[in-house]
Amino acid sequence: MRRGTTIYLYELAWILPSIAIPVGMLVALVVTAFGAGVHVPSDAGRIDSTRVAETFPTGVYELAPGQYEVRLLGQIWTFAPNEIRVPRGSTVHFWATSKDVVHGLFIPHANVNVMLLPGQLAHVTARFDTPGVYPIICHEYCGIAHHVMAGKMVVE
Ligand code: CUA
Repeated sequence: MRRGTTIYLYELAWILPSIAIPVGMLVALVVTAFGAGVHVPSDAGRIDSTRVAETFPTGVYELAPGQYEVRLLGQIWTFAPNEIRVPRGSTVHFWATSKDVVHGLFIPHANVNVMLLPGQLAHVTARFDTPGVYPIICHEYCGIAHHVMAGKMVVE
């Protein structure tokens, strides 16, 4: 093999992956954003984290048949409310924030996955068609008892 051809092949071995990897990442980004509906938390609003007890009443509220609003507070090391019950087929609009440190709000199999930041409101909407018990998990490390910070969502 001539020396010029060898150098060309080495260049090709570097150039092709350096094009393929960013293209692959871009495809993964587009598929997760538009195909799987994964997105960063929206700028849903701000709240005074020192006064959430007065300004952010937590609970489950029925807006209309099949439409619920859940106002959820993350705090060390629990969620308020800790148990949510909705009938199957419900669309649930979650509004959530943190009282103290950064927490997470993750409900597997429901496309609910947001960070709860003190002072920042998170908003996410999910539909629950399959009855069952869904765990509500804190998936941001928030201190010594982070691993026990969990609630449950019961779809009846
Ligand atoms: Cu709250 Cu981890």
